[in-house]
Amino acid sequence: MPLILITGVSTGIGRALAERFARDGWTVVGTVRDAAKMADVQWPGEVRLETADLAQRGSGRALAARVLSAHGTPDVVVNNAGTLEFGPVEDESPDSAEEVFRVNVFEPVEIIRALAPAMRTAGGGTVVNVTSLGGRMVFPFFTTYNSSKHALEGYSEGLWHELQLSKIRVKAVEPGFVETAVWGKSVRNRGDSPYQGSGPYGPAMEAMARFEGSISNRSTPEQAAEEIRTAILDPSDRLRYPVASYARPMLRARRWLGDLRVMRFFHSRWMGK
Ligand SMILES: NC(=O)c1ccc[n+]([C@@H]2O[C@H](COP(=O)([O-])OP(=O)(O)OC[C@H]3O[C@@H](n4cnc5c(N)ncnc54)[C@H](OP(=O)(O)O)[C@@H]3O)[C@@H](O)[C@H]2O)c1
Repeated sequence: MPLILITGVSTGIGRALAERFARDGWTVVGTVRDAAKMADVQWPGEVRLETADLAQRGSGRALAARVLSAHGTPDVVVNNAGTLEFGPVEDESPDSAEEVFRVNVFEPVEIIRALAPAMRTAGGGTVVNVTSLGGRMVFPFFTTYNSSKHALEGYSEGLWHELQLSKIRVKAVEPGFVETAVWGKSVRNRGDSPYQGSGPYGPAMEAMARFEGSISNRSTPEQAAEEIRTAILDPSDRLRYPVASYARPMLRARRWLGDLRVMRFFHSRWMGK
């Protein structure tokens, strides 16, 4: 049975994806940060857990080495784990910005770099980066998070060219809005300093948080996982897959109306201007 490595299977999209592939009979290697929290989880098939905190420099390469020695060469690698920052850039600490880029970009790229030689030797495979609708457009106060997803989009496009030489397909999956813990970890916790927003930012942050809270019809993690599974199994060389609620319509609107008109529209709604 094929082997799939998925980072961040404790909750949300990664969890649903791991369950889906396990149910299909694939061998899933999933990463978590805290294995003790997963002790009671009943997986619907074979899910082998590895521990990795991708905020640690070198964790991606160490994870790849453990996967190769303990489980073999993955047929599919899904960089799903991600972390989200909410707040004005001016208020952010350089350390938190660096952590967002390490978890969302640098260590995922290290995982790919470390696994590519073995995948090439095995005859190829598929690399999937879970980016975001925010990897194609930027939402205020999600600037650092969205910029990290833009960076992962950039790597995905470049690697699409480079890894094709080794018969490794690269896919960027771009979720819109999915109801997962990632949102609670940011906007709803904004009462924690420094997310109140200093100086001129407070009212606009409130407006943005209200907008975030008002988004209805978000996809479930299972719905998103189903669309991502279809992308993973697509044998074509397609690179980008907008998935889940609002991703396709928002990208279409931006293409039709142009960047600036859409930015002005959202600016007036989000920033109270
Ligand atoms: N939900 C959405 O609307 C949405 C939209 C666009 C893109 N995405 C992307 O989809 C992916 C999955 O997110 P989700 O919505 O399913 O959120 P989630 O439920 O919070 O899942 C995120 C996963 O990443 C793991 N993770 C976070 N920080 C980590 C670190 N330092 N090291 C290793 N693992 C870490 C989490 O582990 P812990 O349990 O230990 O925190 C969790 O397993 C992310 O890349 C996210 O950016 C989500």
